[in-house]
Amino acid sequence: MDLSTDYLGLKLKNPIVASSSPLTWELDKVLTLQDAGAAAIVMPSMFEEQIKNEQEQMDCFIHQQSLGHSEVENYHPSLIDYEEYLDKYTRRLQLFKKELDIPVIASLNGISNGGWVEYAHELQEAGADALELNVYYIASDPDESSNTVEQRYIDILTAVHQQVQIPVCVKLSSQFSSIIPLVKRLQQSGASGVSLFNRFYQPDIDLDSLNIVPSLKLSDSSSALLRIRWVAMLRQHVSMTLSITGGMHNAEDVLKGLLAGADVTCMCSALLDNGAEHISQTLQQVTQWMEEKEYLSVKQLKGSLSYAKAINPAAFERANYLEILDNYSYAAGVMV
Ligand SMILES: Cc1cc2nc3c(=O)[nH]c(=O)nc-3n(C[C@H](O)[C@H](O)[C@H](O)COP(=O)(O)O)c2cc1C
Repeated sequence: MDLSTDYLGLKLKNPIVASSSPLTWELDKVLTLQDAGAAAIVMPSMFEEQIKNEQEQMDCFIHQQSLGHSEVENYHPSLIDYEEYLDKYTRRLQLFKKELDIPVIASLNGISNGGWVEYAHELQEAGADALELNVYYIASDPDESSNTVEQRYIDILTAVHQQVQIPVCVKLSSQFSSIIPLVKRLQQSGASGVSLFNRFYQPDIDLDSLNIVPSLKLSDSSSALLRIRWVAMLRQHVSMTLSITGGMHNAEDVLKGLLAGADVTCMCSALLDNGAEHISQTLQQVTQWMEEKEYLSVKQLKGSLSYAKAINPAAFERANYLEILDNYSYAAGVMV
């Protein structure tokens, strides 16, 4: 069975990528992911906030030096400490590139178009095969129009793209009024792919303390269908790579994602729940299903149920909405 697929111009041996998470930071873990069959890894993000923090500390350091406050110099951390964040990340990236046979994708995560985007160049120089750009922006400003929000994504992508020659994939959330035109604009602005969709982690309300508390719940397969629908709808409109992140937990999710038109599927929660070996089990089940259905390759399978190719594409849209609601019946005895 030929499971290979093209992703951001890279040739991958199969369509399962280990998504950005704590599992893709330690060498022993990424080697285990590779042994289990991961076709590529996405490293945890470098965050704009941390980059800015480092840059501010660096400015402060240089400023203090130039003022000649020799007596306070001993109390300030050394230049080496200030360079730690970028250095640590690029050294880890170089190590992964040396030890792994599969592509290593670095990740940048931020929301504004500022100096931090220049780190993209450093990641390319350290050997990243591609870059994932995660714009995790919560549009809470009542005076900011949807156009302005979308332009933010274009501006950040353009700035990052100017820094590098390697492919850039934009990781998007689903919360846009019009995803397809936005993705087309991202392609026109230099993106080689999009990853659909970022999961926003929802703050919760603690009813005892009456505090707002952060909450991070891992996904399950129910998150997959939103992604599958939008990949199916997008496939005919762009030539770029489409990857699914969110809800890819088993062979069924992966197969549906590919049939809809994804080039790869990224796993995070499933690996945090079940460990790396879950990839090899999923690949076995994907292969078995493809043999049963007489597919010869992932390339043959990809997109065969996208909006353009499905027998009943309207089912991806509003068409069955009324019918589904009309046909719903609640369990006997619920309302007596
Ligand atoms: C603990 C944890 C850490 C994560 N760290 C990052 C990160 O640094 N950068 C990023 O782009 N996504 C990060 N993600 C998001 C995942 O890469 C993935 O896109 C998301 O969890 C949806 O996929 P899933 O349903 O397979 O979990 C993280 C997710 C988890 C659960």
